[in-house]
Amino acid sequence: MEIGGAGVLQIRQVLLFFVLLGMSQAGSDFGRFSVAEEMQSGSIVGNLAKDLGLEVGELSFRGARARVVCDDNEKHLHLDLLTGDLLINDKLDREEMCGSTEPCVMHFQMVLENPLQFFQAELHIKDINDHSPTFLDNEIVIKISESTTIGTTFLMESAQDLDVGSNSLQNYTVSPNSHFYIKIQDSDDGKIYPELVLHRALDHEEEPELRLTLVALDGGNPPRSGTTLVLIKVLDINDNAPQFPQRLYEVQVLENAPVGSWIITVSAKDLDAGNYGKILYTFFHASEDIRKTFEINPISGEVHLRSQLDFEVVQSYTINIQATDGGGLSEECTLLVKVIDTNDNPPEVIISSITKIIPENAAETLVALFSVRDQDSGENGRIICSIQDDLPFFLKPTFKNFFTLVSDKALDREERAEYNITITVTDMGTPRLKTEHNTTVLVSDVNDNAPAFTQTSYTLWVRENNSPALHIGSVSATDTDAGANAQVTYSLLPPPDPLVPLASLVSINPDNGHLFALTSLDYEALRAFEFRVGATDRGSPAQQPGAGARARGGRQRQRALRALPAAERLGACTELVPRAAEPGYLVTKVVAVDGDAGQNAWLSYQLLKATEPGLFGVWAHNGEVRTARLLSERDAPKQRLVVLVKDNGEPPLSASVTLHVLLVDAEAAAAAPADPLTVYLVVALASVSSLFLFSVLVFVAVRLCRRGGAASAGRCPVAEGHFPGHLVDVSGTGTLSQSYQYEVCLMGGPGTNEFKFLKPIIPNLPLL
Ligand SMILES: *[C@@H]1O[C@H](CO)[C@@H](O)[C@H](O)[C@H]1NC(C)=O
Ligand SMILES: *[C@@H]1O[C@H](CO)[C@@H](O)[C@H](O)[C@H]1NC(C)=O
Ligand SMILES: *[C@@H]1O[C@H](CO)[C@@H](O)[C@H](O)[C@H]1NC(C)=O
Repeated sequence: MEIGGAGVLQIRQVLLFFVLLGMSQAGSDFGRFSVAEEMQSGSIVGNLAKDLGLEVGELSFRGARARVVCDDNEKHLHLDLLTGDLLINDKLDREEMCGSTEPCVMHFQMVLENPLQFFQAELHIKDINDHSPTFLDNEIVIKISESTTIGTTFLMESAQDLDVGSNSLQNYTVSPNSHFYIKIQDSDDGKIYPELVLHRALDHEEEPELRLTLVALDGGNPPRSGTTLVLIKVLDINDNAPQFPQRLYEVQVLENAPVGSWIITVSAKDLDAGNYGKILYTFFHASEDIRKTFEINPISGEVHLRSQLDFEVVQSYTINIQATDGGGLSEECTLLVKVIDTNDNPPEVIISSITKIIPENAAETLVALFSVRDQDSGENGRIICSIQDDLPFFLKPTFKNFFTLVSDKALDREERAEYNITITVTDMGTPRLKTEHNTTVLVSDVNDNAPAFTQTSYTLWVRENNSPALHIGSVSATDTDAGANAQVTYSLLPPPDPLVPLASLVSINPDNGHLFALTSLDYEALRAFEFRVGATDRGSPAQQPGAGARARGGRQRQRALRALPAAERLGACTELVPRAAEPGYLVTKVVAVDGDAGQNAWLSYQLLKATEPGLFGVWAHNGEVRTARLLSERDAPKQRLVVLVKDNGEPPLSASVTLHVLLVDAEAAAAAPADPLTVYLVVALASVSSLFLFSVLVFVAVRLCRRGGAASAGRCPVAEGHFPGHLVDVSGTGTLSQSYQYEVCLMGGPGTNEFKFLKPIIPNLPLL
């Protein structure tokens, strides 16, 4: 039966009533019945026959035509014709038939035929509690912020109960919990609604969600209930700041930890959820230095090394780390990073002053002043300082970390002039680091060594008749000092025998110690002599040798006139002879001296060769060269004579000399010795009478002139090596004056010997 069916039923009843009235045999109401719903089929509602006053038999008699008709034409009811009982045909469901309408009345008619009679009756269908309250949803989700204030109510969905009256919904309860209770709210339509009332603050962190069971109760006996799950999601608010488990983190890091090394991970907890619980880590009020040295991962809180640590610069860092959640609440902790020293700094040597050159013979000289340092600390910074132990130097600690390097004994440059000193500083760290400083110390020379001769005595052998200025030997002294201290100067020392005219016998080259005979030695006159040679260095003070050198002169027996190489070829020795000279005119005198004794010394001269044979003659015993006849115009002006001198020895020794003779006219002689022959002829003819005197004068003049030239031409020098020969002094004993005495250069080598006419090398040289 539909809602509103009651009205229709009543209208029908009214219509039926009028129909019945219109009919002669009108029906009448005869009763009210009531029955509980949901009765079993066949349950007796009442006895119609009794109520209508009908006989049982009558009913069955008329029963073929008697029937019960319900308003809705449904066969809810059934009439037992035998007993007259009204039976329930099938179950009556009040809720189906009347819904929430109360009372639920079903009208029906009983129709009898023979005669046709209508009886009207109504059946009250009574509610039984056959329905439980139900909620529309099995689960109700509500979201409540944890910040919700106490007392706030949350209207819940109501349940439905199809039953009516006391069987309908009467009460709500909620499962026991600590946050909510139920408040029943009545509405205008008489229904009740449950409201959840918060009586204790929610805490998302404590209980992010609550599960409550909402129970709807009806008033039946026994009551029926329906439940639904109420899921309360507690919405988080940022009511929690991040929390570090500890306020201070302490960590030790080796200073040589590589860049990027993990240092520590800090971790804060935030009880809030979601964004409010997301933590970002940052350095808080960190200095530039800290930011350069460390970095923190904002998400993970890992702290890494960003740049190299250096214990020597910073020993520890105090870093404030802030954790901030998504809601802006923050908390700080402190990270203390202690840098641990590693031996990463080699020790250093700092030279304050250094002397590269120290004098020898000086005791304990300061070579260097230096300091050492190591930037590491502890053992890593403890320094040991040393030098090689085989050196005459040592280290002296002065104050603190200063050292001096001192030479420990008098050094001898001659023993060792250079020392390479390695100053080694080592620290005691692990691994040990060391630094070396090399310095070279030179020992400067002090003139502490006298020159020393290579031999204590020298014996020099000189052949007699040596040429003057002959190199007769050398002495040599060495000096172990250096530089000027080692430059040796040689000198002759005063001879032991003061009678020996040493200065006139030998000379010495002060630079190289070469000894020269100054004069021609004569075995017969002086067989040996001793002299002392000194050597002096140029140091300051000069060192004089303690021992000199001894030299012996001339002991070789030597016959004079042995053909010996000449020292020097001078310009031609030319004699001028006036054409007007008388026969027997003395041109020159060849003088030879034989140092031998006895017969060996007897000399004889002879003319070996002449340009004009017969023009000149040589006196065999005195060596005088004279004209043999008068000179004529036809005689060549240049004449060449070779004079041979022999001694009387066995075998005889000989030497030869070449003379050049120039025939000159008396007048032209001074001006031009080589004038044309015609001029000589005229002059000779014109001055025959005064020829001799004039010639002598001219001759003297020319000789004087030549003497000047020869003086400027120098001596007959001895070129060592080129001319290893000897100079032989031939002393004149003839009739010529001193100025007419000539020295003779005897050329070495047979056949090429020539006499040379020289100036005396050493004037006033005493003859030996
Ligand atoms: C509803 O139930 C509660 C607890 O069972 C009870 O205290 C309360 O009196 C009841 N309310 C009504 C209207 O019956
Ligand atoms: C010192 O060192 C220098 C340069 O290394 C080297 O030439 C010299 O020979 C060394 N001297 C000594 C005495 O070792
Ligand atoms: C110092 O000298 C030593 C020995 O000569 C050598 O081995 C070393 O390499 C040098 N050190 C330096 C820094 O030159």
